[in-house]
Amino acid sequence: MDKTYRIITYGCQMNVHESEKIAGMLENEGYVRSDNDDIADVVVLNTCCVRETAETRVTGNLGILKKSKELKPDMKIIVCGCMTQSDGTAQKLKERCPFIFAILGTHNIDRLPEILRDGHNGKTYVEITDKTKINEDMPVKRTSGINAWVNIMYGCNNFCSYCIVPYVRGRERSREKKHIIADVKKLVSVGYKQITLLGQNVNSYGNDLNGSTDDFPSLLRDLSAIDGKFRIKFMTSHPKDIVPETVDAISESDKLSHFIHMPAQSGSDRILGLMNRKYTSADYLSKIDMIKNAIPDAGLSGDIMVGFPTETERDFADTVDLVSAVKYSNLYTFIYSRRKGTPAANMEGQVPTADKKRRIAELIKRQAQIACGSAVACVGRSYEILCSEHKNGKIVGETRCGKAVLIDGDASMVGKFINAKIIKNVNSKLYGAIN
Ligand code: 5AD
Ligand code: SF4
Repeated sequence: MDKTYRIITYGCQMNVHESEKIAGMLENEGYVRSDNDDIADVVVLNTCCVRETAETRVTGNLGILKKSKELKPDMKIIVCGCMTQSDGTAQKLKERCPFIFAILGTHNIDRLPEILRDGHNGKTYVEITDKTKINEDMPVKRTSGINAWVNIMYGCNNFCSYCIVPYVRGRERSREKKHIIADVKKLVSVGYKQITLLGQNVNSYGNDLNGSTDDFPSLLRDLSAIDGKFRIKFMTSHPKDIVPETVDAISESDKLSHFIHMPAQSGSDRILGLMNRKYTSADYLSKIDMIKNAIPDAGLSGDIMVGFPTETERDFADTVDLVSAVKYSNLYTFIYSRRKGTPAANMEGQVPTADKKRRIAELIKRQAQIACGSAVACVGRSYEILCSEHKNGKIVGETRCGKAVLIDGDASMVGKFINAKIIKNVNSKLYGAIN
């Protein structure tokens, strides 16, 4: 019987891709994927700690896994990812959950195969390090269909006052351009149709590469020059760092997606200052204008947080105004979550939960109205659509500006680019027909 593995992933795309690397390592060790298996031989929890809710879900899942381990005592439970790297958490987990086989941090996941081979005398093995390195030789077992994730950098230097990421992921480290280009060439040659470049702030790509002039716009241009028909996406863009050269590189390329994820977090200048975001709402809106002027069909998405310490109704109204002005095609809304070790956690004026909940509900409602208006405006227009998957008898595709479209079709269309006209909009869902 093959040894089986299961990976439970929490959090962002960065973690989703990291789980693909974990899967790659486990398959190299002879394990076979079995995601629905409650009693797999190895269960990996790839954790997130950006908000408290993510941590609560991990703790809840560990309670369930404790029971599975009673049924299968030789099951190896591994906990890794952002949560384990946050101050003191690994030790606490070890004490509370002695049934965990090993706890690894964010900088040493490549040690997994070796750690799995050792028995550690039946005790929970903990290995957390602050030493960062880039391992270019990690195997990857991709699970995202026609899309391939490619890290261009790791870590973050921005220290937004609410955010735990710089503490658990370390400072910015860019991969060398030649490695990224080689990866993308290989992925395109084996048939991937969408490449999504990943970094906490892709716009600062290259800043840490001593003696190199490589930067994000030049990376985009070099990747666009690779032969083949495919799309390039990237995330995330910090508004303070997006420059006209990046927008030009997008508008001049036939491969770059016209979809840009650029979180605003708030529309209040006072709150943006407290968040240490280093821009005002006017700066943000002028960057949005710069994008819309150069790329008229640009699709924009953003993150907004409500209930940051001291946020008043006036501050929140500024956020609603900003959201109304930008007209995002997708908006990710979050309730501020107090993260121990971040400056905002110690700020006076934490906002009552009831106010946070009311504000997020209002924001979601406003965004739904905006999305509905933009969906109505799409009907009758034609788009080039990349068919990404076949689900419930329909093709799910995406326009270059990032809009999801449902089309009648069969599985053979997956991975193809087609032209389609939007024929109807049902509750902001777009339906298309092949032209
Ligand atoms: N509370 C709530 N949301 C947060 N984010 C980051 N830190 C926190 C926090 N402490 C959100 C930000 C970021 C997204 C990935 O998660 O909006 O852009
Ligand atoms: Fe967190 Fe700010 Fe870095 Fe984004 S840019 S990961 S919000 S510190």
